[in-house]
Amino acid sequence: MFKESVEALKRENLFRSFRYIESAQGPRIILDGRRVINMCSNNYLGLADHPLLKEAAKKIIDEYGVGCGASRLVGGNNILYRELEGRLAIFKETEAALVFNSGYTANIGILQGISEKIDVIFSDRLNHASIVDGIILSRVNFKRYPHKDFKALEDMLSKEDRAKKKLIVTDTIFSMDGDIAPLPDIVELAERFNAMVMVDEAHATGVLGKDGKGALNHFGLKGRVEIQMGTFSKAFGGFGAFVCGSNELIEFLINTARSLIYTTALPPSVLASNIAALNIVESEPTIRQRLWENVEYFKKGLLSYRFDISESETPIIPIILKDNELTMNFSRMLLEEGVYIQGIRPPTVPQGSSRLRVTVIATHTREDLDKALEAIVKVAKKLGVE
Ligand SMILES: Cc1ncc(COP(=O)(O)O)c(C=O)c1O
Repeated sequence: MFKESVEALKRENLFRSFRYIESAQGPRIILDGRRVINMCSNNYLGLADHPLLKEAAKKIIDEYGVGCGASRLVGGNNILYRELEGRLAIFKETEAALVFNSGYTANIGILQGISEKIDVIFSDRLNHASIVDGIILSRVNFKRYPHKDFKALEDMLSKEDRAKKKLIVTDTIFSMDGDIAPLPDIVELAERFNAMVMVDEAHATGVLGKDGKGALNHFGLKGRVEIQMGTFSKAFGGFGAFVCGSNELIEFLINTARSLIYTTALPPSVLASNIAALNIVESEPTIRQRLWENVEYFKKGLLSYRFDISESETPIIPIILKDNELTMNFSRMLLEEGVYIQGIRPPTVPQGSSRLRVTVIATHTREDLDKALEAIVKVAKKLGVE
């Protein structure tokens, strides 16, 4: 029953399978038994194996054990949620915050949770799959606007009935392209056409803005976006996600977001390590500085060889190769050279835009980056990629 479909995926070079990592996440990992340079992790600040995060988690395991036992509204709401959510609201400069189990469940929960308040959703064509799935789950009428095209968005908004309750939703840093949404324009349009805005700051939290507060802070848009989602799974090096906004919004979501209501609460150790990560993100700007220095260094290297890195402006740097087979061969040959960069194909990215998705992190050394660049150039030459 499933075999034929699997065979078809293999024929089209679209088949995916797991690899196994036998080390901590970091700039170098042991992958399927081999030590390689890791250039495909979202652990942007290198916090996933930071001693303070590990210590915080261990201490809480000794005190509270490993599981929460029930959902947050039933019996699993550990006191650490209060501290984490209080701290997040301050960090994101909003009235309140609400922690979800993951970025995926946050997006589907928020969009489904607010669905009765929205008549039409406008979504960037390259938004993350969890937003797409949340929109489907919300059953709200939706329109996708061309990537970052706020003129097209304006056109769509102007054709919509003014009385309709509208939501514009966008990633702030796009996960596969590494570019940044034109937030000032989007917010201005939202204000003009009386729409709400929801942003997904999964990749921007800890990376952009003062103290890593995210893209809204970076653009000076404090208080002008109603729904701010972010995750602990990327720059915070941990697991889980959150939404920040008004007290009203948070109280409403606690009562409507099914992916929050009907799932077991996070383990207390995860909450504790997220608090520890927030402490570091807020107080150690030099880590973020190192991240951006590495990004600039690596990007300059790639550009000097004229690779097509699309419009990347962040630690996510795609090398666009277009062809599925070429992309996967490139990735495999890089691994033979000791560099792990995952190839990304449809449906994660649009047809004809397969790519290597390179991510640079703060803890890469210059030697790591030089070696990776050398390997990319060597493989590109072998494969005839100009
Ligand atoms: C933009 C974006 N939103 C949401 C998610 C989901 O977050 P999580 O991995 O915590 O489920 C991801 C990544 O996986 C993402 O890239």
